[in-house]
Amino acid sequence: MTEAFDLDPAYLTVNHGSFGAVPRSVQAAQRAWAARMEAQPTRFLATEAPDALRAAATVLARYLNTDPEGLGFVTNATEGCNAVLRSLRLAPDDEILVLSHGYGAVRKTAGFVAARAGARVVEAALPFPRPTGEAVLDALAAALSPRTRIAVLDHITSPSALVLPVAAMIALCRAHGVPVLVDGAHAPGQVPLDLFALDADWYTGNAHKWLFAPRGCAFLATAARHRATTHPAVISHGHGDGYVAEFDWTGTRDPSPFLAIEAAIAAHAALGGTALMARNRALVAEAGTMLAGHFGTEVGAMPAMQGAMSVIRLPRAGDTAEALALRQRLFVRGTDVPTVAIDGALWLRISAQAYNDRADYERLAGLVETALAA
Ligand SMILES: Cc1ncc(COP(=O)(O)O)c(C=O)c1O
Repeated sequence: MTEAFDLDPAYLTVNHGSFGAVPRSVQAAQRAWAARMEAQPTRFLATEAPDALRAAATVLARYLNTDPEGLGFVTNATEGCNAVLRSLRLAPDDEILVLSHGYGAVRKTAGFVAARAGARVVEAALPFPRPTGEAVLDALAAALSPRTRIAVLDHITSPSALVLPVAAMIALCRAHGVPVLVDGAHAPGQVPLDLFALDADWYTGNAHKWLFAPRGCAFLATAARHRATTHPAVISHGHGDGYVAEFDWTGTRDPSPFLAIEAAIAAHAALGGTALMARNRALVAEAGTMLAGHFGTEVGAMPAMQGAMSVIRLPRAGDTAEALALRQRLFVRGTDVPTVAIDGALWLRISAQAYNDRADYERLAGLVETALAA
């Protein structure tokens, strides 16, 4: 399956999670859209792109099982979270709930929005490693309060690669009258998704990580009850004309990543679709167990919370500075693996994608060992 991609064979790619990798067929589709645009930019952007964008939104909405009228394209999940959080009207002492393993940039956005209003960010402390679903729900319940105005829940956590039980978490928040923004940056293409069934208030996700879209292709799906009050991070001509108009035009931008979504979904299906997700999950589980055995340590997730990424504890205590230094030592040795410090221990996050096999992680074990010894 490596022929579907342009990856440099000299470099060990086991970090699909950070920025994805775009199959050749999707690159070609994006280039074809760009060529149409460059043949006559004004004609394309004024007369062809609006309908093409809506058609692309409809294709993506069908894949996610959600309403295209509530699906706005955004450049990335950070922008999707910004749109929701910056649309909130908070009062002093209101609370924004985030998870302790929440994505740093999104936690900063929550902090920015809260500070402007004299509100607070409250953190639900996820138990780690190998939390049960029940323990995650208990941590969430402990952080909810009568002042919680929104809960930002990561579908798949970035530092710890936990696939959280978001359906049960949304239900818990709903029972407390708290609306939920799901940060699903890693979910589309990594785990099966049915947004109607999840019924979040907002769900943002990247198509440019695990769904093989070009970088800059992400979405914000908003429940009908919030569409009139949810605005894009950039206010432009569509403001006041409804959700779709507001999100479809946020100033001049290159729509080709969005327009390539049909090709991306087709490439994902051609590489196996849900079978690819299952294959990646099995491969990363095997690789995680092998690496944990190699280092005499442990993996971070129980099978029920495992997707196509896994974190493995390294036989080394350390802080964030040491984690970054180790990542640099891996870079110069020809690979990249996110390394994070959690509760004073160093963890390694690996990904499994169509182009990976078991040998990649055996090679990784050797590189990590030399980087640790350096
Ligand atoms: C949970 C989570 N949220 C948000 C993001 C940010 O994604 P992007 O840079 O595409 O906005 C990431 C990136 O890995 C993530 O893991």
